Amino acid sequence: MRGIEAGNNLLLGVTGGIAAYKSIELARLFRRKGVEVRVVMTEAATRFVGPMSFQAVTGEAVRVRLFDEAHEAAMGHIELARWADHLLVAPASADFLARMAHGFGDDLLSTLCLATSAPVSVAPAMNVNMWEHPATRANMSLLADRGVRVLGPASGDLACGDTGAGRMLEAAEIVSLLMYPRKTGLFAGEKVIVTAGPTREAVDPVRFISNRSSGKMGFALAEAFAEQGAEVLLVSGPVNLDTPAGVRRLDVQSALEMHRAVFDNIRNADIFAGCAAVADYRPENPSDRKLKKNDDQMALSLVKNPDILAEVAALENGPFTLGFAAETQELAENARGKLAAKGVDMIAANLVGENLGFDTEQNALLVLWSDGEQRLPKQPKKGLARALLEIVAEQYQT
Ligand code: PMT
Repeated sequence: MRGIEAGNNLLLGVTGGIAAYKSIELARLFRRKGVEVRVVMTEAATRFVGPMSFQAVTGEAVRVRLFDEAHEAAMGHIELARWADHLLVAPASADFLARMAHGFGDDLLSTLCLATSAPVSVAPAMNVNMWEHPATRANMSLLADRGVRVLGPASGDLACGDTGAGRMLEAAEIVSLLMYPRKTGLFAGEKVIVTAGPTREAVDPVRFISNRSSGKMGFALAEAFAEQGAEVLLVSGPVNLDTPAGVRRLDVQSALEMHRAVFDNIRNADIFAGCAAVADYRPENPSDRKLKKNDDQMALSLVKNPDILAEVAALENGPFTLGFAAETQELAENARGKLAAKGVDMIAANLVGENLGFDTEQNALLVLWSDGEQRLPKQPKKGLARALLEIVAEQYQT
């Protein structure tokens, strides 16, 4: 998604929530970066902050109502939608995100979300249970599928007294995620695809073959790339994790779906990082009915899945490829074998097994490339991902 540059027009939507006060600072920071800012508030937002505060910071009248004759005469709402180079909703409440996901246009801000053809970003802010509610999860995945960029939320102490995910990102963080081109970071402006999590291979409508991958390592990697200025597409198998700030996410189930999602986007990628635990095999003939337990034994015929990483590495003028290797023994030897067999630029190998690698908070890696290697000691996956990217950056640049 295109970011925001000095001279662009930013439409800042503010919805009802205690975090609305942070958006005054947000408007001020964007103004300081040379961005034109106009603010549209929902009625609920005006209960938390007065429109005058935004007017003082932006020098522009703040709009709240859809059919406000004075404002419509100066600039109609469709004109306002066209004026925007970017629409950012911050804070975005659970209610507003639900209305956005379902295409409502019953107030000025939701109408603008429908009417604009500019890129749209949202910075959610709400109570942790509201954020984790299946309805909000479904709404977020609808919005992400439509290309809406989701910034945060952060985890921590919430205004309601609970602790967890739901806090709006700080204004400076949002500005640095959206301002483009990002001048800082090891991968500023690079396009990166990361795969994460397990795949599920259907046996019948209620059963599948899968593995213990939680997605944590791949999500940490996607987050670390985004922190370093990359434009990240995260292709994720079924996991229970929030999308990292500044990352676009596509959810898939099976290896074939992951393969399709990767190859639909690979032509634009500069770097491909395959962290997903892709099932090597899938049932040959998944049943469309639940299988009955008629016999004492049952044989399942499996066929090989495409090797996504190896196919990406084999592309002519393809991206830099970082693969992972999950091994239970002879880590270095097996991983070097995969480096050569799959033809990748770099392999990050981890020992897996009980309490190792899969579904753990910490991990250790042995990173290998054609003429070198480096060990990264056991540490939380986020820190490990950051350390891994320093090595990737060196090899990528050479
Ligand atoms: O998700 P977590 O719980 O945080 O756990 C992290 C992890 C252990 C899953 C991760 O660190 C890891 O090792 N991921 C790769 C797991 C794996 O499938 O390893 P592999 O050795 O079987 O595959 C080698 C490489 O080929 C991997 O990059 C894999 O994504 C890729 N592959 C494998 C099979 C296939 N059909 N297509 C592929 O692209």
